[in-house]
Amino acid sequence: MSEPRATVTTFPALLRRMTYEAPGVLSLDFEAEDGRELPPFEPGSHIDLHLPDGTIRQYSLCGDPAARGHYRIAVRDVKGGRASRFIHRGELRPGVTVTLGVPRNNFAFEPASNYLFVAGGIGITPLLPMMRAASAAGTSWSLLLCAPRTADAPFLREARALGGEVSVHASTEGTRLDVAAHLRDARPDTLLYCCGPEALMLAVEQATACWPQGSVRFEWFTARARPEGETADTFEVECAQRGLTLTVPSGRSILQVLNDAGLDVPCSCEQGICGTCEVAVLEGEVDHRDSILSAAERASNSTMMCCVSRAKSPRLVLDL
Ligand code: FES
Repeated sequence: MSEPRATVTTFPALLRRMTYEAPGVLSLDFEAEDGRELPPFEPGSHIDLHLPDGTIRQYSLCGDPAARGHYRIAVRDVKGGRASRFIHRGELRPGVTVTLGVPRNNFAFEPASNYLFVAGGIGITPLLPMMRAASAAGTSWSLLLCAPRTADAPFLREARALGGEVSVHASTEGTRLDVAAHLRDARPDTLLYCCGPEALMLAVEQATACWPQGSVRFEWFTARARPEGETADTFEVECAQRGLTLTVPSGRSILQVLNDAGLDVPCSCEQGICGTCEVAVLEGEVDHRDSILSAAERASNSTMMCCVSRAKSPRLVLDL
């Protein structure tokens, strides 16, 4: 990847339906206000949902990309979460118009001859369209869905109906999950997609450390914890197109400094998980702190998420 991802635009959408998929998990179905098609999306895409208090949350699209007039997302009830308050406490109701961002994809579904999907709870949402696409292509796939209880596993019936091999690990109903044992016999041509809580993702990452590069893909809902590494506390950012050089002090993000200078760089999550603030890097060494870029993308040093990432070198030159 060398080009920044799509510029963000928003549009109104009508919330048509809310359905419980499991205890504490509501799916939301949206349509265009005028009944027309919605912007297209691919397996792995997510959208921004703009909440009435001005906050923005990212949700994976878990419906069928072929159903062009319809989006579906799922929202887990998180104690104390702002999105939960609006969505699970009745402040958002069918018939209300909300603002959505156009779909973006940081978790692209790539061709493979065999897929292994590993999901923790609501982490199944970005994987559902992938399972659907794999089945449509006649490609073998299996899913390991982890949840506290089988009854808590969202979209289980839907996943089972898609034709792959589905297994559930219910942490309160049996033994502790041994991720390494589950992955040990995976076919060498397997492409693995994983989404779920940090502990599950880290366990999968550890168990697949010796898999070929690019054969394991993760989607992070929240920013992953990163050890503080070597980084230039204060560094300079040059905006090449404008001939403007700015100083980024410790405690300020590049995004904040750019926006203070009037550049109006798009942003959404400000946690390094959505990809909205991606900018192309022309010179300098980036201290990547996002949860999106692959190891190869980081090593290419050609792009960065400017809301969280910083510089290892005294100066970065950005294509801005
Ligand atoms: S604003 Fe989401 S990755 Fe930077």
